[in-house]
Amino acid sequence: MRDLLITGAQFADGSTADLGVSAGRFVAPSEVHDAEHIGADGLLALPGLVDSHTHLREPGREDAETVATGTLAAARGGYTAVHAMANLDPVTDSAEAAEHLAALAGRTASAEVIVVGSVTKGLAGAELSEMGLMHRSAAGVRMFSDDGKCVMDSLVMRRALTYAKTFDAVIAQHAQDTRLAGPGACCHESEISGRLGLPGWPAQAESAIIARDVELAQLSGGRLHVCHVSTAEGVEVIRWAKARGVNVTAEVTPHHLYLGTREVERYDTTFKVNPPLRTDEHIEAVRAGLADGTIDMVGTDHAPHARQDKDHPFDIALPGMLGLEQALAVVIETMVNSGRLDWPGVVRSMSAAPAALTRSATQGRPIAVGEPANLVLVDPSARAVVDRDDSASKSRNNPYHGRDLPDPIVATIWAGRITHRR
Ligand code: NCD
Repeated sequence: MRDLLITGAQFADGSTADLGVSAGRFVAPSEVHDAEHIGADGLLALPGLVDSHTHLREPGREDAETVATGTLAAARGGYTAVHAMANLDPVTDSAEAAEHLAALAGRTASAEVIVVGSVTKGLAGAELSEMGLMHRSAAGVRMFSDDGKCVMDSLVMRRALTYAKTFDAVIAQHAQDTRLAGPGACCHESEISGRLGLPGWPAQAESAIIARDVELAQLSGGRLHVCHVSTAEGVEVIRWAKARGVNVTAEVTPHHLYLGTREVERYDTTFKVNPPLRTDEHIEAVRAGLADGTIDMVGTDHAPHARQDKDHPFDIALPGMLGLEQALAVVIETMVNSGRLDWPGVVRSMSAAPAALTRSATQGRPIAVGEPANLVLVDPSARAVVDRDDSASKSRNNPYHGRDLPDPIVATIWAGRITHRR
């Protein structure tokens, strides 16, 4: 691996300095030898982004994504680490499954893969998975989630929070009360669900579970993370819980910051996602929540799906959309360009906070001599029309296709290695 010399870049706080990279770490520029020069005049240098919520699909659905393609998509989006969700086949519910994924990542990944274990065996919601064994395994699991499914049983959720607390792990909940919606619920319950004749999810299916879970976090003293908050009511409950000192963090997806119910007017299944796209008042609420820190971080919920799983009537198609490659673009468009989030805020919500979820020692760190060289070079003013075929992902369910958006990622460096360069 060749040394790097990066000159001219500016940091999130507005300061500038040249950067040396050697043996995977930042070093003083005078310390590099035979270095490859990267001229970064006019660019921002930010710590490598960390995704709190990625679906990599391997093992099980390698036709939709693999660890190799998903982490390459991550690198193209400026990410140097992703939390790999457990809804794989087989489910990541044992030490063996966790170690298998970690080993696979060791061989094929272009970003650090932080393994997430399931809360319950087979995501069935009944019996706790081997959480302690997964934590003590070589995969060192520190986050557990049945994401894709809500842990509905209150006692199971209580036990998970209580047990995870003993080794400082976090329980990430997909907050969606399945008992509050009829079968086939597939969009936001509102004027649009009635007009389109599609069964809907009320906002309260999300906020009611968040309310229960913050009470359980309080009761157990455990650490709760709320996945993909999408409703004004959900943000309000989290704001209330934080004011009471509950140990809770939350994420919002790029698509819930940017896209709304109008996208489903044409029954295009690209826009079917869980939780569903919401109305303007909810979009405004999640933006405000991210701006004031009620929502701690951006998690992409990158959910690749093969064409045959999307080419169905809207209520039957699988939910989920891509997110890694355009996440920063959407955050710049919705939050930075509108003045609601500054660059230190971007660093906090897209690198430091998600890295802190699983107590990473290598990610979300400042750009400083001696630190692991995880870096993204950003051109904040470049724009382009998104083309879903210009992607490292195996899937094409890109909701930003055809839109004019920022095109910020110039280069990504993971542990001193260039993983993407435009
Ligand atoms: C996710 C998936 O496809 O794995 N789908 C989605 O609509 N977001 C599961 C999830 O995160 O809910």
